[in-house]
Amino acid sequence: MKGKDLLSIADLNREDISLLISRAIELKEEGWRHSLSEKVLALVFEKPSLRTRVSFEIAMRQMGGYAIYLSPAEVGLGEREPVPDVARVLSRYVDAIAARTFSHETLELLARYADVPVINALSDLEHPCQALADLLTIYEKKGELEGLTMAYVGDGNNVANSLMLASALAGIHFRIASPAGYQIRDDLLELARSYAMESGTEILCTEDPRQAVHEADIVYTDVWTSMGQEDESEKRHRAFSGYQIDDELLAQAEEGAILMHPLPAHQGEEVARGVLDSPQSVVFDQAENRMHLQKALLAEMLGGLEIPLMKYD
Ligand code: CP
Ligand code: NVA
Repeated sequence: MKGKDLLSIADLNREDISLLISRAIELKEEGWRHSLSEKVLALVFEKPSLRTRVSFEIAMRQMGGYAIYLSPAEVGLGEREPVPDVARVLSRYVDAIAARTFSHETLELLARYADVPVINALSDLEHPCQALADLLTIYEKKGELEGLTMAYVGDGNNVANSLMLASALAGIHFRIASPAGYQIRDDLLELARSYAMESGTEILCTEDPRQAVHEADIVYTDVWTSMGQEDESEKRHRAFSGYQIDDELLAQAEEGAILMHPLPAHQGEEVARGVLDSPQSVVFDQAENRMHLQKALLAEMLGGLEIPLMKYD
């Protein structure tokens, strides 16, 4: 990894991603434990979570360490106490911090002042743990990553940003269909295009969901209204009305295409009711893989390959 933290997919290179996926597959198949004996992870969350919180807690526990969850009310990042002080205090107690923040700047501030590694557990800008686990799921389902085409339909949000960067690094062609005003950020698009040049992939941005989904191997969507944007919900609902994944749109994809969503889903909005229950949907594998991928990530960040790995008896 490029530095001590994982705030963005940009903190990784292609080899890091490959290593994390291989190690996650090993961990998933062989069930190693106790490689993080006595290590402690602080989970500092400004927003709700099911998957991220539980998968990190179980990952730490199964690897012999443990996690301490700190709810928004307990820490009051930047309100009860300045972010730099929280970072410096936690660094005296724990071995790593996974933080879910509204603003990505809060996360960066936390990382700058923390002596221990900081992991982005979702910010307004990126959701790297989700994207890495998604690559693991794609690899399991398709047997490869390179040369596949992913079509993301919906908001150019945190999940889309990390997926675009991760896809471009891993050799997956990335297409995104978003309405005007909700497109992916120019600076991240430029960064992803530089990765795509290296990996020989293409990135397509369009307003037309059918153009994006046409013969794609992976169809991906996420909520139209992310956490913290609830006030814009009605406006977003109108803007995204032609962007729902339904059977008809899914039928434009390659035969055998998989349907992905990070969850939680708003059925009847970004996905038609029932579509996530179809055989093409891999959403629960995605959720499970959060835990396996994060085990690989924690092992890497908290001692890496030097820590002896012990298999289950
Ligand atoms: N996908 C995901 O990050 O879910 P949670 O918000 O429940 O953690
Ligand atoms: N884009 C969503 C992802 C939730 C996992 C959000 O930020 O709320």
